[in-house]
Amino acid sequence: MKPSIAIDGPAGAGKSTVAREAAARLGLTYLDTGAMYRAITLAALRRGTDIHDAKSLDALTKAVDLDIQNDSSGQNIIFLDGENVTEEIRLPVINRNVSFVARCPQVREILVDKQRQIGSRGGVVMDGRDIGTKVMPFAEFKFFLNASLAERSRRRMAELSAKGEEFELEQMMKEIAARDKIDSERVVAPLRSAEDAVCLDTTLMTIEAVVDAIVRAVRGEE
Ligand code: DC
Repeated sequence: MKPSIAIDGPAGAGKSTVAREAAARLGLTYLDTGAMYRAITLAALRRGTDIHDAKSLDALTKAVDLDIQNDSSGQNIIFLDGENVTEEIRLPVINRNVSFVARCPQVREILVDKQRQIGSRGGVVMDGRDIGTKVMPFAEFKFFLNASLAERSRRRMAELSAKGEEFELEQMMKEIAARDKIDSERVVAPLRSAEDAVCLDTTLMTIEAVVDAIVRAVRGEE
C-alpha cells in the first residue's frame, strides 16, 4: 500500500499548497479537510442554520451531500448537493465563520469519519488540524507546518488580493489570531502537533523548499 502523509498546522502556514504539490510529486491523492468544514459552513449560512447550535449543525451535516473529487492537476473540487462550491468556500465570510462550525463535536465526528474512510485506502496526503493526531494517527509521515502570525497573514492577504479582496495587515492578523485561538482552544481535537510529527517553521522558506523537504523525507533521502 502507498504511504499516507498527514500535514497539520495553523491557518496560512502553507499547508494546502504544500500538500497538493507534494502529493503531485509523490503520485499520491490530495485531500484538503479544511474545505469540508468550509462547505458545511457555506451550507449553514445559506440555510440560515445557527452556527452556534450543535444540534442544528448536526442535522445539517447529516442532511447535505458533500463530495470531493480531484481534477487533473490534483486540486480538490468540492461539491455541495451537486453544486461546485470550490471558489465560494474561500470567501472572507466563510473564513470568519468556519472556526465556529469546526469546533462542533457532531460536525467533526461526521467529517472525520469521511476522512478516515478516504485515508484507509492509503496513498493520501491530507492537510488539516487534527490529521496526525486523530484522523490518520497511523500515517507513515507526519508534518506540522508553522510560520509567524505576520507571515501567515501576509500569505492570506496575497491569496485574497489575487481575487480582488484587499485587507490591511493589522485586520488580517486579528482575524487569523482569532481563528487560531478558537482552533487551539476547542475541546474536541484542538490544533496541536502530533508527538511524532516533523515540525517545519516555514516563515523564511519558499513553498518549493517546504515541498522539497517533505518529498525528500518521504523518499528517505535524508
Ligand atoms: O485549513 P482551512 O483554513 O481551510 O481550515 C478551515 C477551518 O476548519 C479552520 O477553522 C480549521 C478547521 N479545520 C479543522 O478544525 N480540522 C481540520 N482537519 C481542518 C480544518
